[in-house]
Amino acid sequence: MPVMESYAKIDLSAWTKVGEGGNGITYENSSEPDVLLKVNKAGMNDLATVKREFDLSTSVAKLGIPTPGMLEIVRVGDAYATRMERIRDKKSVFRICHDEPERIEEMATQFCKLGKALFATPCDTSAFPSRKETALRGLDLSSWLGKETCGKLRRFIASVPESSGCVHGDFQPGNLIVAGDKYYWIDLGRFAWGDPMFDIGHLYLSCVVYASQRQTQAIFHLNERQLNLFWDSFAKAYTGRADHADFDREAARFGAVDIVVRNVYTHASILHKIFFRIIVRRLMKFF
Ligand SMILES: Nc1ncnc2c1ncn2[C@@H]1O[C@H](COP(=O)(O)OP(=O)(O)O)[C@@H](O)[C@H]1O
Ligand SMILES: [Mg+2]
Repeated sequence: MPVMESYAKIDLSAWTKVGEGGNGITYENSSEPDVLLKVNKAGMNDLATVKREFDLSTSVAKLGIPTPGMLEIVRVGDAYATRMERIRDKKSVFRICHDEPERIEEMATQFCKLGKALFATPCDTSAFPSRKETALRGLDLSSWLGKETCGKLRRFIASVPESSGCVHGDFQPGNLIVAGDKYYWIDLGRFAWGDPMFDIGHLYLSCVVYASQRQTQAIFHLNERQLNLFWDSFAKAYTGRADHADFDREAARFGAVDIVVRNVYTHASILHKIFFRIIVRRLMKFF
């Protein structure tokens, strides 16, 4: 007899929306002030996707990386959702940059410092996926990028040195929240181990390549100039150099790889494929 898994059902009418990211909407409930409910949008709310983020987050906490505790997977209508520890009175690093734009450089430097600590944390390579292996798998799903582009990307990914430090997977300042003087990494569904440049490529996409798009600015609460300033300050802090053109080129190459990695985690619609092919083709000049 198959074992039936049962998940508690949650009635969303008792919950109030408090936040929204690229994939999920978060809710609070006054009768459980220390609990946050995260319900992903359609296409990302199946059991496998929700369980992956839940399990990875639980494993990340065991590495000693500060992250809100995962409590329980539940059902909200047809969707699966997560009840987690709610960090009260938190702000994301991007939200701080929006509220106090004069602090963008300071916050980028802090984001860099905490990012470096994350990258320097040895990952459990048996419990987490290899980002390099995932990138190669993503390439198998990216034939729509064209043979020549895929060939170049494959050679590039294969040349990335092995490294067993942590990578976040959605490394951008909306996913670092702070309450008082305590910082927490959130949104860990793509956590892995590998070269830090995989994460830095993702940040470069967020703050430079997509910065002119209204949707990006709405999710990150910053305008194009502010996103670019965040990148510039991060790159200076990371490299220790005012001139970081070489670093930017390397980040652009890893940005193209990040688009390939994305295909493993989310289904690309025709429109997405057109959009991402334009972006990747633009980034190929850095190879
Ligand atoms: N444990 C938490 N405590 C408080 N706020 C949180 C917590 N987790 C996420 N949030 C907030 O919820 C929103 C979306 O969360 P996130 O996990 O980043 O979702 P997405 O996958 O949509 O990016 C963000 O505004 C974030 O600041
Ligand atoms: Mg997020």
